Amino acid sequence: MLFRDTLIDGERCDLRVADDKITARVTIAPGSERLAAQPGEDIISGGLITPPMAEPHVHLDAALLGQRAPNKSGTLREGIANWSHLRDALTVEDITARALATAEMYASFGTLRIRTHVDTGSLLAVETLVGLKADFAQRGIELQVVAFPQEGILRAPGRREQWEQAMALGCDAVGGIPHFERTTEEGWDSVRLCFDIAEKYDALLDFHCDETDDPHSRNLEVVCANSLDRGFAGKVVTGHCTALHSYNNPHAAKVIELVAESRVQVVANPLDNSVLQGRYDHYPIRRGITRVDQLWDAGALVGIGHDSVQDPWYRLGTANMLDTAYMLIHMAHLTSEEQMRHAFFTLSNENHLPFGGPPTLQAGDKAQLLWWDREDPIELIIDRRRPRVFR
Ligand code: FE2
Repeated sequence: MLFRDTLIDGERCDLRVADDKITARVTIAPGSERLAAQPGEDIISGGLITPPMAEPHVHLDAALLGQRAPNKSGTLREGIANWSHLRDALTVEDITARALATAEMYASFGTLRIRTHVDTGSLLAVETLVGLKADFAQRGIELQVVAFPQEGILRAPGRREQWEQAMALGCDAVGGIPHFERTTEEGWDSVRLCFDIAEKYDALLDFHCDETDDPHSRNLEVVCANSLDRGFAGKVVTGHCTALHSYNNPHAAKVIELVAESRVQVVANPLDNSVLQGRYDHYPIRRGITRVDQLWDAGALVGIGHDSVQDPWYRLGTANMLDTAYMLIHMAHLTSEEQMRHAFFTLSNENHLPFGGPPTLQAGDKAQLLWWDREDPIELIIDRRRPRVFR
């Protein structure tokens, strides 16, 4: 297949794909030699090529379960309570079927890397999802699994043991939920424990961090300080960080500087947090989205996650990453042309950081790529259109 006069990384290019590899890429410039079509070759002209998108934050163990336990109050607390009842009835067949169905939804929209959290309250779910990594790979999808203690590590007896066992079962990253522990101090203790376990298993770290409107929820700074002191730069993700929205401005400025310095990546989950947060407010009602504009201005790493695909927390997730960008642009006031473009390209660039960085599209690379029929990202965001997916 030959792509002609297609925009890649801001350059107009010709690019050839054969036998699942990129075999040639030339930049179109005055005097440069173009790639000539070979007999019988399929030709696609114009448009935009990007790497596949990546999903840095979803819960495949709970995906597609929302209908079984609707969230009547809309709060995060009820989502967790409803899920804990469903969790006890999980079977290997059910988890497998839903995880594969959700992954195919993602792939159909152009996402070929998925980082899932799995609640360590069900070691059956942990084992099943870790066991699906090879199956996903055969479908051209990379799966990472985070050992996520949904109901805390220190909050009740037995939880810490299950969470540690999940890491022994082969999870890629250690998860934590410090704002959900009983006290502020126990939250901070849980952060340090997460780093201890990550050191033991030489694993990555991914926290549900400060997913609350409480301006006194101060775990992000503890994660950043530990990351700096213990040499984890580039290995740590913090999801949500919605309390940052509500911090007083001087404190927010200090924390954002620390986030940038520590290279901790903040993953915003705008779909869920636009409706799960603000539930204790009376008008005006906050939308609990972390401070993406200020994080970008400080040079911090930001990703955009889905969090929920039709699960007990949020029924409306579609597995189309463009929906997350669309929502973030609205909720975080990112409507300048530059910000909208940045949101679009985050999906195929910064969203790959938890997986080691975005794939490159050079001759010799694997031909996993997306072809979009428009070259303007803003037009692509307007109708969240599907790319043609090469996987
Ligand atoms: Fe989550």
